[in-house]
Amino acid sequence: MPALVLASPQAPLQGDDVEFRTLGSSGCSVSTLALGTMTFGSETDEAGSHDQLNRFMEAGGNFIDTADVYSAGASEEIVGRWLLKAPTEFRQRAVIATKGRFSTSADPNGAGLSRRHLAVALDASLRRLGVDTVDLYQVHSHDPLTPIEETLRFLDDAVRAGKIHYVGLSNFTGWQLQKAVDVADAKGLTRPVTLQPQYNLLVREVEWEIIPACQSEGLGVLPWSPLGGGWLTGKYRAEQRPTGATRLGENPERGVEAYDRRSRQRRTWDVIEALRKVADGRGISMAQAALAWLADRPGVTSVILGARTTEQLDDNLGAAGLHLSDDETGLLDNASDPGAADYPYGGPGTNQRSRSIKGT
Ligand SMILES: NC(=O)c1ccc[n+]([C@@H]2O[C@H](COP(=O)([O-])OP(=O)(O)OC[C@H]3O[C@@H](n4cnc5c(N)ncnc54)[C@H](OP(=O)(O)O)[C@@H]3O)[C@@H](O)[C@H]2O)c1
Repeated sequence: MPALVLASPQAPLQGDDVEFRTLGSSGCSVSTLALGTMTFGSETDEAGSHDQLNRFMEAGGNFIDTADVYSAGASEEIVGRWLLKAPTEFRQRAVIATKGRFSTSADPNGAGLSRRHLAVALDASLRRLGVDTVDLYQVHSHDPLTPIEETLRFLDDAVRAGKIHYVGLSNFTGWQLQKAVDVADAKGLTRPVTLQPQYNLLVREVEWEIIPACQSEGLGVLPWSPLGGGWLTGKYRAEQRPTGATRLGENPERGVEAYDRRSRQRRTWDVIEALRKVADGRGISMAQAALAWLADRPGVTSVILGARTTEQLDDNLGAAGLHLSDDETGLLDNASDPGAADYPYGGPGTNQRSRSIKGT
């Protein structure tokens, strides 16, 4: 097993070893590559899932992300059964994150961020995972029907009850997360420490407002779908709709629609070409280049890997300790530029760093 090294978020260490950053403004250290478990219990069977978990821990990672709705609870159960039989050292080192919010029953109170639903959802997650405490409990998305204070009070009570160590948000917009943080501060409730948004070379719009809000409030960013669901591995082609055992190929209707939507955008193919150039120049895979780019973006704490097979996971873990040069980063930045200079994000005054006498 490689030696574990600790790096501050400001100055990550270079090298082949797994690196660690603190979980947002908390004191908990997590590997800059996390293991996502959305495929567990669906594309990946239990044996394959346990293999991935062991491989990830052997490689020096410690951060594992699941959710109550992944494979209708089966993902949490698979992680829970692994925790039961995993070597003590893995069990003690693992930092477990899960989520609640989406529908777990047909009941009108079977979804949402109400105290009523979250109390049931959190207990069910703890039961499936077989633990008394989950390290990071994330609300899976905003709920317009529930006052944020109700959600934050429930989460604060759960922290005090010892069921949660840290609170996180997922899929919140800039104003939603700012409101959550402000209400938590004003009412003396536990502050969220992370945000989990979709973020990758094909989806950079989060850089306009959401990531600046995270940086301003000290929330660590945990990007999901870092490979755009597989696109950034180069497996999808412009001239051929996907077939076979791929996320899009297995899903003839939704997959083709999703493929067409992304394939129509020139930027998709520009990014893939730039990635291929960086990967070939370095002798690494396109996935590794895409993951290394993302792990070094401002504000990012830990990139949540997804894999169907252990071979894919091994490839992705090859991004540990990998840092691209300024030229390589620049090439990828340019090809993937989402046009941030457009109004209002690039509007008057947004780039101002100092005031001149005549300044605004
Ligand atoms: N908070 C949220 O709302 C949210 C939403 C989605 C995901 N997540 C989290 O983020 C994690 C990762 O998301 P994701 O699965 O969408 O990540 P992703 O890395 O964008 O896509 C993973 C998929 O890409 C393909 N792939 C991955 N590595 C590969 C490689 N080296 N070579 C070839 N193909 C490869 C595999 O699909 P195929 O083999 O099928 O092509 C794999 O299942 C999830 O497990 C979950 O924990 C959170």
